[in-house]
Amino acid sequence: MADLIDLAEYGEDFRADPHPVYAELRELGPVHRVRLPGTEPWETWLVVGYEEARAAFADPRLSKDVSRIQGPPLEERILGKNMLNADPPQHTRLRSLVTRAFTARRVEALRPRVREITDGLLDAMLPHGSADLVEALAYPLPITVICELLGVPEMDRAAFREMSNEVVAPTSEEAYTLAVNGLGAYLTDLVEDKRSAGPADDLLSALIRTTAEDGDRLSASELLGMAFLLLIAGHETTVNLIANGVRSLLTHPDQLAEVRADLSLVDGVVEETLRYEGPVEAATFRYAAEPLEIAGTVIAAGEPVLIGLGAADRDPTRFASPDSFDIRRDTRGHLAFGHGIHYCVGAQLARLEARIALRSLLERAPALTLDGPPGDWLPGMLIRGTRTLRVRW
Ligand code: HEM
Repeated sequence: MADLIDLAEYGEDFRADPHPVYAELRELGPVHRVRLPGTEPWETWLVVGYEEARAAFADPRLSKDVSRIQGPPLEERILGKNMLNADPPQHTRLRSLVTRAFTARRVEALRPRVREITDGLLDAMLPHGSADLVEALAYPLPITVICELLGVPEMDRAAFREMSNEVVAPTSEEAYTLAVNGLGAYLTDLVEDKRSAGPADDLLSALIRTTAEDGDRLSASELLGMAFLLLIAGHETTVNLIANGVRSLLTHPDQLAEVRADLSLVDGVVEETLRYEGPVEAATFRYAAEPLEIAGTVIAAGEPVLIGLGAADRDPTRFASPDSFDIRRDTRGHLAFGHGIHYCVGAQLARLEARIALRSLLERAPALTLDGPPGDWLPGMLIRGTRTLRVRW
Protein backbone atom coordinates (compact mmCIF):
# COMPACT_ATOMS: atom_id res chain seq x y z
CA MET A 1 0.00 0.00 0.00
CA ALA A 2 1.31 3.45 -0.93
CA ASP A 3 2.21 5.96 1.79
CA LEU A 4 -0.73 8.00 2.99
CA ILE A 5 -0.26 11.74 2.60
CA ASP A 6 -2.35 13.76 5.04
CA LEU A 7 -3.34 16.99 3.30
CA ALA A 8 -4.82 18.29 6.56
CA GLU A 9 -1.27 18.47 7.93
CA TYR A 10 -0.56 21.38 5.60
CA GLY A 11 -3.28 23.28 7.50
CA GLU A 12 -4.50 26.63 6.21
CA ASP A 13 -1.52 26.93 3.87
CA PHE A 14 -3.03 24.25 1.63
CA ARG A 15 -6.29 26.17 1.29
CA ALA A 16 -4.56 29.50 0.75
CA ASP A 17 -2.39 28.05 -2.00
CA PRO A 18 -2.53 24.33 -2.79
CA HIS A 19 -0.17 24.61 -5.77
CA PRO A 20 3.16 24.19 -3.91
CA VAL A 21 1.73 21.02 -2.32
CA TYR A 22 0.60 19.72 -5.72
CA ALA A 23 4.08 20.50 -7.08
CA GLU A 24 5.66 18.47 -4.25
CA LEU A 25 3.30 15.58 -4.95
CA ARG A 26 3.95 15.67 -8.72
CA GLU A 27 7.69 15.46 -8.00
CA LEU A 28 7.03 12.25 -6.07
CA GLY A 29 4.73 10.72 -8.67
CA PRO A 30 1.50 11.17 -10.65
CA VAL A 31 -0.86 9.44 -8.21
CA HIS A 32 -1.03 9.38 -4.40
CA ARG A 33 -3.09 8.06 -1.56
CA VAL A 34 -4.22 11.10 0.42
CA ARG A 35 -6.35 12.03 3.39
CA LEU A 36 -8.47 15.01 2.44
CA PRO A 37 -8.65 18.09 4.61
CA GLY A 38 -12.14 19.03 5.75
CA THR A 39 -14.80 18.18 8.23
CA GLU A 40 -14.52 14.39 7.83
CA PRO A 41 -11.19 12.61 7.43
CA TRP A 42 -11.52 10.92 4.05
CA GLU A 43 -9.04 8.79 2.19
CA THR A 44 -8.85 8.70 -1.58
CA TRP A 45 -6.46 8.36 -4.51
CA LEU A 46 -5.49 11.70 -6.01
CA VAL A 47 -4.16 12.00 -9.56
CA VAL A 48 -1.84 15.01 -9.96
CA GLY A 49 0.00 14.32 -13.25
CA TYR A 50 -1.43 15.75 -16.48
CA GLU A 51 -1.18 12.69 -18.74
CA GLU A 52 -2.47 10.40 -16.02
CA ALA A 53 -5.36 12.77 -15.28
CA ARG A 54 -6.37 12.86 -18.93
CA ALA A 55 -6.13 9.07 -19.18
CA ALA A 56 -8.18 8.63 -15.98
CA PHE A 57 -10.99 10.79 -17.44
CA ALA A 58 -11.13 8.45 -20.44
CA ASP A 59 -10.93 5.19 -18.46
CA PRO A 60 -14.30 3.36 -18.48
CA ARG A 61 -13.17 1.29 -15.45
CA LEU A 62 -13.47 4.45 -13.37
CA SER A 63 -17.18 4.69 -12.66
CA LYS A 64 -19.12 7.85 -11.73
CA ASP A 65 -21.97 5.78 -10.35
CA VAL A 66 -21.16 5.53 -6.65
CA SER A 67 -24.49 3.78 -5.99
CA ARG A 68 -23.05 0.77 -7.89
CA ILE A 69 -20.18 0.58 -5.43
CA GLN A 70 -21.62 1.50 -2.04
CA GLY A 71 -25.32 2.28 -2.46
CA PRO A 72 -26.78 5.72 -3.17
CA PRO A 73 -25.38 8.53 -1.01
CA LEU A 74 -27.64 11.12 0.65
CA GLU A 75 -27.35 13.58 -2.23
CA GLU A 76 -28.59 11.01 -4.75
CA ARG A 77 -31.37 9.72 -2.50
CA ILE A 78 -32.79 13.22 -2.06
CA LEU A 79 -31.85 14.94 -5.32
CA GLY A 80 -32.12 12.04 -7.75
CA LYS A 81 -29.76 10.62 -10.31
CA ASN A 82 -28.07 13.04 -12.69
CA MET A 83 -25.70 12.56 -15.62
CA LEU A 84 -22.66 13.43 -13.50
CA ASN A 85 -23.29 10.52 -11.11
CA ALA A 86 -24.29 8.06 -13.85
CA ASP A 87 -22.44 5.72 -16.23
CA PRO A 88 -23.48 4.76 -19.76
CA PRO A 89 -26.10 3.90 -20.91
CA GLN A 90 -28.00 6.00 -18.32
CA HIS A 91 -25.47 8.83 -18.66
CA THR A 92 -25.80 8.85 -22.46
CA ARG A 93 -29.60 9.01 -22.26
CA LEU A 94 -29.66 11.86 -19.70
CA ARG A 95 -26.97 13.92 -21.40
CA SER A 96 -28.64 13.65 -24.81
CA LEU A 97 -31.77 15.34 -23.38
CA VAL A 98 -29.97 18.67 -22.85
CA THR A 99 -26.92 18.86 -25.11
CA ARG A 100 -28.92 20.56 -27.88
CA ALA A 101 -29.63 23.53 -25.60
CA PHE A 102 -25.87 24.09 -25.14
CA THR A 103 -24.45 23.77 -28.66
CA ALA A 104 -22.10 26.51 -29.89
CA ARG A 105 -24.91 27.92 -32.08
CA ARG A 106 -27.53 28.03 -29.31
CA VAL A 107 -25.04 29.58 -26.90
CA GLU A 108 -23.96 32.19 -29.46
CA ALA A 109 -27.63 33.19 -29.81
CA LEU A 110 -27.57 34.15 -26.11
CA ARG A 111 -24.81 36.72 -26.66
CA PRO A 112 -27.03 39.84 -26.89
CA ARG A 113 -28.90 38.88 -23.73
CA VAL A 114 -25.70 38.10 -21.81
CA ARG A 115 -24.40 41.55 -22.86
CA GLU A 116 -27.60 43.21 -21.77
CA ILE A 117 -27.54 41.56 -18.33
CA THR A 118 -23.84 42.46 -17.92
CA ASP A 119 -24.47 46.09 -18.93
CA GLY A 120 -27.33 46.35 -16.44
CA LEU A 121 -25.20 44.97 -13.62
CA LEU A 122 -22.32 47.33 -14.43
CA ASP A 123 -24.73 50.31 -14.71
CA ALA A 124 -25.81 49.55 -11.14
CA MET A 125 -22.29 48.90 -9.83
CA LEU A 126 -20.12 51.60 -11.38
CA PRO A 127 -21.60 54.76 -9.78
CA HIS A 128 -20.49 53.43 -6.36
CA GLY A 129 -16.72 53.65 -6.81
CA SER A 130 -16.14 50.34 -5.05
CA ALA A 131 -17.96 47.00 -4.73
CA ASP A 132 -17.76 43.35 -3.95
CA LEU A 133 -17.31 42.09 -7.49
CA VAL A 134 -18.79 38.68 -6.67
CA GLU A 135 -21.99 40.22 -5.34
CA ALA A 136 -22.26 42.88 -8.05
CA LEU A 137 -21.29 40.95 -11.21
CA ALA A 138 -19.66 37.52 -10.97
CA TYR A 139 -22.57 35.90 -9.13
CA PRO A 140 -25.69 37.56 -10.59
CA LEU A 141 -24.63 37.17 -14.24
CA PRO A 142 -24.41 33.36 -14.49
CA ILE A 143 -27.33 32.76 -12.16
CA THR A 144 -29.58 35.08 -14.16
CA VAL A 145 -28.55 33.39 -17.41
CA ILE A 146 -29.12 29.81 -16.19
CA CYS A 147 -32.45 30.74 -14.57
CA GLU A 148 -33.67 32.34 -17.80
CA LEU A 149 -32.48 29.39 -19.85
CA LEU A 150 -34.25 26.92 -17.58
CA GLY A 151 -37.28 29.17 -17.15
CA VAL A 152 -36.99 29.58 -13.40
CA PRO A 153 -38.98 32.77 -12.75
CA GLU A 154 -38.78 34.33 -9.34
CA MET A 155 -36.22 32.25 -7.51
CA ASP A 156 -35.46 33.01 -3.88
CA ARG A 157 -31.83 33.47 -4.80
CA ALA A 158 -30.46 34.14 -1.34
CA ALA A 159 -31.95 30.93 0.06
CA PHE A 160 -30.95 28.84 -2.96
CA ARG A 161 -27.46 30.28 -2.94
CA GLU A 162 -26.91 29.43 0.70
CA MET A 163 -27.93 25.79 0.18
CA SER A 164 -26.01 25.49 -3.08
CA ASN A 165 -22.85 26.95 -1.49
CA GLU A 166 -23.06 24.43 1.34
CA VAL A 167 -23.49 21.45 -0.98
CA VAL A 168 -20.36 22.22 -3.05
CA ALA A 169 -18.17 23.37 -0.14
CA PRO A 170 -19.59 21.79 3.04
CA THR A 171 -18.80 23.48 6.34
CA SER A 172 -20.13 20.64 8.56
CA GLU A 173 -21.93 17.30 8.23
CA GLU A 174 -25.12 18.75 9.77
CA ALA A 175 -25.18 21.86 7.59
CA TYR A 176 -24.61 19.68 4.51
CA THR A 177 -27.51 17.32 5.37
CA LEU A 178 -29.79 20.30 5.99
CA ALA A 179 -28.81 21.89 2.67
CA VAL A 180 -29.37 18.70 0.64
CA ASN A 181 -32.82 18.23 2.19
CA GLY A 182 -33.63 21.91 1.69
CA LEU A 183 -32.65 21.75 -1.98
CA GLY A 184 -34.77 18.61 -2.45
CA ALA A 185 -37.86 20.39 -1.09
CA TYR A 186 -37.09 23.57 -3.03
CA LEU A 187 -36.64 21.83 -6.38
CA THR A 188 -39.73 19.64 -5.91
CA ASP A 189 -41.81 22.81 -5.40
CA LEU A 190 -40.13 24.50 -8.33
CA VAL A 191 -40.96 21.65 -10.73
CA GLU A 192 -44.53 21.51 -9.37
CA ASP A 193 -45.00 25.27 -9.88
CA LYS A 194 -43.67 25.05 -13.44
CA ARG A 195 -45.93 22.12 -14.19
CA SER A 196 -49.05 23.93 -12.99
CA ALA A 197 -48.05 27.16 -14.78
CA GLY A 198 -48.59 25.33 -18.11
CA PRO A 199 -46.43 24.99 -21.23
CA ALA A 200 -43.63 27.50 -21.90
CA ASP A 201 -40.70 27.75 -24.26
CA ASP A 202 -37.83 27.01 -21.88
CA LEU A 203 -35.59 24.06 -21.00
CA LEU A 204 -37.28 23.06 -17.75
CA SER A 205 -40.73 23.03 -19.42
CA ALA A 206 -39.32 20.84 -22.20
CA LEU A 207 -37.88 18.42 -19.62
CA ILE A 208 -41.16 18.36 -17.70
CA ARG A 209 -42.96 17.48 -20.97
CA THR A 210 -40.46 14.69 -21.61
CA THR A 211 -41.16 13.19 -18.17
CA ALA A 212 -44.93 13.46 -18.67
CA GLU A 213 -44.85 11.89 -22.14
CA ASP A 214 -42.16 9.26 -21.62
CA GLY A 215 -40.99 8.51 -18.08
CA ASP A 216 -38.52 5.97 -19.50
CA ARG A 217 -36.56 8.80 -21.13
CA LEU A 218 -36.60 10.95 -17.99
CA SER A 219 -38.11 9.72 -14.73
CA ALA A 220 -39.53 12.13 -12.16
CA SER A 221 -36.49 11.71 -9.91
CA GLU A 222 -34.08 12.18 -12.85
CA LEU A 223 -35.94 15.40 -13.68
CA LEU A 224 -35.19 16.67 -10.19
CA GLY A 225 -31.56 15.57 -10.62
CA MET A 226 -31.26 17.43 -13.92
CA ALA A 227 -32.68 20.66 -12.45
CA PHE A 228 -30.30 20.31 -9.50
CA LEU A 229 -27.22 19.71 -11.66
CA LEU A 230 -27.89 22.55 -14.11
CA LEU A 231 -28.74 25.08 -11.40
CA ILE A 232 -25.75 24.11 -9.27
CA ALA A 233 -23.45 24.32 -12.30
CA GLY A 234 -24.92 27.76 -13.05
CA HIS A 235 -24.42 28.85 -9.44
CA GLU A 236 -21.00 27.67 -8.46
CA THR A 237 -18.56 27.62 -11.34
CA THR A 238 -18.76 30.56 -13.75
CA VAL A 239 -18.95 32.88 -10.73
CA ASN A 240 -15.43 31.82 -9.82
CA LEU A 241 -14.15 31.92 -13.38
CA ILE A 242 -15.10 35.60 -13.54
CA ALA A 243 -13.81 36.41 -10.04
CA ASN A 244 -10.60 34.35 -10.37
CA GLY A 245 -9.94 35.99 -13.75
CA VAL A 246 -10.28 39.50 -12.31
CA ARG A 247 -8.22 38.56 -9.26
CA SER A 248 -5.45 37.06 -11.38
CA LEU A 249 -5.31 40.17 -13.59
CA LEU A 250 -5.27 42.57 -10.64
CA THR A 251 -2.43 40.64 -9.01
CA HIS A 252 -0.43 40.51 -12.29
CA PRO A 253 -0.20 44.17 -13.39
CA ASP A 254 1.94 43.35 -16.46
CA GLN A 255 -0.77 41.03 -17.80
CA LEU A 256 -3.46 43.57 -16.92
CA ALA A 257 -1.60 46.25 -18.91
CA GLU A 258 -1.33 43.92 -21.91
CA VAL A 259 -5.01 43.11 -22.07
CA ARG A 260 -5.93 46.76 -21.50
CA ALA A 261 -3.79 47.67 -24.50
CA ASP A 262 -5.42 44.98 -26.65
CA LEU A 263 -8.85 43.80 -25.53
CA SER A 264 -8.83 40.99 -28.07
CA LEU A 265 -6.59 39.23 -25.51
CA VAL A 266 -9.62 38.72 -23.23
CA ASP A 267 -10.22 35.23 -24.63
CA GLY A 268 -6.64 34.41 -23.61
CA VAL A 269 -7.31 35.76 -20.10
CA VAL A 270 -10.32 33.46 -19.75
CA GLU A 271 -8.47 30.36 -20.98
CA GLU A 272 -5.38 31.09 -18.87
CA THR A 273 -7.58 31.64 -15.80
CA LEU A 274 -9.17 28.25 -16.44
CA ARG A 275 -5.71 26.66 -16.53
CA TYR A 276 -4.02 28.71 -13.80
CA GLU A 277 -6.83 29.01 -11.24
CA GLY A 278 -9.77 27.05 -12.69
CA PRO A 279 -13.02 27.08 -10.66
CA VAL A 280 -13.06 23.28 -10.31
CA GLU A 281 -9.98 22.26 -8.34
CA ALA A 282 -10.66 18.51 -8.42
CA ALA A 283 -13.25 16.66 -10.51
CA THR A 284 -16.09 14.80 -8.83
CA PHE A 285 -15.31 11.37 -7.32
CA ARG A 286 -14.79 8.36 -9.52
CA TYR A 287 -14.69 4.75 -8.26
CA ALA A 288 -12.69 1.79 -9.52
CA ALA A 289 -15.32 -0.62 -10.86
CA GLU A 290 -12.54 -3.23 -11.10
CA PRO A 291 -8.89 -3.25 -10.01
CA LEU A 292 -6.71 -1.03 -12.18
CA GLU A 293 -3.27 0.48 -12.37
CA ILE A 294 -2.34 4.14 -12.83
CA ALA A 295 1.35 4.68 -13.56
CA GLY A 296 2.28 1.49 -11.70
CA THR A 297 0.05 2.17 -8.68
CA VAL A 298 -2.57 -0.51 -8.12
CA ILE A 299 -6.03 0.76 -7.23
CA ALA A 300 -8.34 -1.88 -5.77
CA ALA A 301 -11.94 -2.34 -6.87
CA GLY A 302 -14.32 0.02 -5.07
CA GLU A 303 -11.72 2.64 -4.15
CA PRO A 304 -12.38 6.34 -4.81
CA VAL A 305 -10.23 8.38 -7.20
CA LEU A 306 -10.06 12.18 -7.45
CA ILE A 307 -8.60 13.77 -10.55
CA GLY A 308 -6.80 16.97 -9.54
CA LEU A 309 -7.53 19.46 -12.30
CA GLY A 310 -5.69 22.33 -10.61
CA ALA A 311 -2.69 20.00 -10.14
CA ALA A 312 -2.76 18.55 -13.68
CA ASP A 313 -3.05 21.96 -15.34
CA ARG A 314 0.17 23.08 -13.62
CA ASP A 315 2.14 20.00 -14.61
CA PRO A 316 5.42 21.38 -16.07
CA THR A 317 5.67 18.42 -18.45
CA ARG A 318 2.54 19.79 -20.18
CA PHE A 319 2.69 23.57 -19.56
CA ALA A 320 6.08 25.30 -19.37
CA SER A 321 6.57 27.62 -16.33
CA PRO A 322 3.16 26.49 -15.08
CA ASP A 323 3.07 28.87 -12.09
CA SER A 324 3.24 31.99 -14.20
CA PHE A 325 -0.03 33.60 -15.28
CA ASP A 326 0.55 34.26 -18.98
CA ILE A 327 -2.45 35.34 -21.04
CA ARG A 328 -0.61 34.73 -24.32
CA ARG A 329 0.35 31.12 -23.65
CA ASP A 330 -1.04 28.19 -25.64
CA THR A 331 -3.53 26.75 -23.14
CA ARG A 332 -4.98 24.13 -25.46
CA GLY A 333 -5.59 20.82 -23.74
CA HIS A 334 -6.21 22.28 -20.25
CA LEU A 335 -8.52 20.09 -18.20
CA ALA A 336 -10.57 22.78 -16.43
CA PHE A 337 -13.81 21.53 -18.04
CA GLY A 338 -12.85 17.86 -17.63
CA HIS A 339 -12.41 15.45 -20.53
CA GLY A 340 -14.19 12.46 -22.06
CA ILE A 341 -17.86 11.59 -21.76
CA HIS A 342 -18.48 13.89 -18.75
CA TYR A 343 -16.82 16.91 -20.41
CA CYS A 344 -18.66 20.02 -19.23
CA VAL A 345 -21.96 20.57 -21.03
CA GLY A 346 -21.85 24.29 -20.19
CA ALA A 347 -18.27 25.04 -21.32
CA GLN A 348 -19.28 27.31 -24.22
CA LEU A 349 -21.84 29.14 -22.11
CA ALA A 350 -19.31 29.69 -19.31
CA ARG A 351 -16.76 31.03 -21.80
CA LEU A 352 -19.28 33.40 -23.37
CA GLU A 353 -20.31 34.83 -19.99
CA ALA A 354 -16.75 35.21 -18.70
CA ARG A 355 -15.47 36.85 -21.91
CA ILE A 356 -18.32 39.37 -21.95
CA ALA A 357 -18.05 40.09 -18.21
CA LEU A 358 -14.28 40.64 -18.26
CA ARG A 359 -14.26 42.68 -21.44
CA SER A 360 -17.11 44.96 -20.31
CA LEU A 361 -15.51 45.43 -16.91
CA LEU A 362 -12.12 46.36 -18.40
CA GLU A 363 -13.75 48.77 -20.85
CA ARG A 364 -15.92 50.52 -18.31
CA ALA A 365 -13.66 50.52 -15.22
CA PRO A 366 -10.28 51.68 -16.51
CA ALA A 367 -8.74 52.17 -13.05
CA LEU A 368 -9.89 48.91 -11.50
CA THR A 369 -7.80 47.70 -8.51
CA LEU A 370 -8.20 45.41 -5.52
CA ASP A 371 -9.78 47.11 -2.53
CA GLY A 372 -8.05 45.34 0.34
CA PRO A 373 -7.04 41.69 0.48
CA PRO A 374 -9.27 39.28 -1.50
CA GLY A 375 -11.60 36.96 0.46
CA ASP A 376 -10.43 33.60 1.79
CA TRP A 377 -10.44 30.61 -0.55
CA LEU A 378 -13.35 28.21 -0.06
CA PRO A 379 -13.04 25.04 2.01
CA GLY A 380 -13.02 21.63 0.28
CA MET A 381 -11.27 20.55 -2.89
CA LEU A 382 -14.12 20.80 -5.40
CA ILE A 383 -14.39 24.54 -5.95
CA ARG A 384 -11.52 27.03 -6.17
CA GLY A 385 -12.95 30.45 -5.50
CA THR A 386 -13.83 33.09 -2.95
CA ARG A 387 -17.18 34.33 -1.76
CA THR A 388 -16.10 37.98 -2.00
CA LEU A 389 -13.68 40.09 -4.06
CA ARG A 390 -13.57 43.76 -3.08
CA VAL A 391 -12.53 46.10 -5.90
CA ARG A 392 -12.54 49.85 -6.56
CA TRP A 393 -12.08 52.00 -9.66
C1 HEM B 1 -16.31 28.01 -15.64
C2 HEM B 1 -17.37 27.32 -15.48
C3 HEM B 1 -17.43 25.83 -15.43
C4 HEM B 1 -16.43 24.91 -15.13
C5 HEM B 1 -14.97 25.19 -14.77
C6 HEM B 1 -17.04 23.61 -15.23
C7 HEM B 1 -16.36 22.42 -15.03
C8 HEM B 1 -16.88 21.17 -15.20
C9 HEM B 1 -16.13 19.94 -15.04
C10 HEM B 1 -14.67 19.83 -14.62
C11 HEM B 1 -16.99 18.92 -15.31
C12 HEM B 1 -16.63 17.43 -15.28
C13 HEM B 1 -16.68 16.87 -13.87
C14 HEM B 1 -16.23 15.44 -13.79
O1 HEM B 1 -16.00 14.76 -14.81
O2 HEM B 1 -16.10 14.95 -12.65
C15 HEM B 1 -18.27 19.49 -15.63
C16 HEM B 1 -19.40 18.78 -15.94
C17 HEM B 1 -20.61 19.37 -16.16
N1 HEM B 1 -20.90 20.72 -16.25
FE1 HEM B 1 -19.62 22.24 -16.03
N2 HEM B 1 -18.34 23.75 -15.56
C18 HEM B 1 -18.62 25.08 -15.71
C19 HEM B 1 -19.83 25.65 -16.05
C20 HEM B 1 -20.97 24.97 -16.33
C21 HEM B 1 -22.23 25.57 -16.68
C22 HEM B 1 -22.51 27.07 -16.83
C23 HEM B 1 -23.11 24.57 -16.82
C24 HEM B 1 -24.56 24.74 -17.12
C25 HEM B 1 -25.18 24.38 -18.07
C26 HEM B 1 -22.39 23.30 -16.60
C27 HEM B 1 -22.95 22.04 -16.66
C28 HEM B 1 -22.25 20.87 -16.50
C29 HEM B 1 -22.88 19.55 -16.57
C30 HEM B 1 -24.33 19.26 -16.82
C31 HEM B 1 -21.84 18.61 -16.36
C32 HEM B 1 -21.98 17.08 -16.33
C33 HEM B 1 -21.65 16.51 -17.69
C34 HEM B 1 -21.73 14.98 -17.71
O3 HEM B 1 -21.75 14.33 -16.65
O4 HEM B 1 -21.78 14.44 -18.81
N3 HEM B 1 -21.10 23.60 -16.30
N4 HEM B 1 -18.17 20.87 -15.57
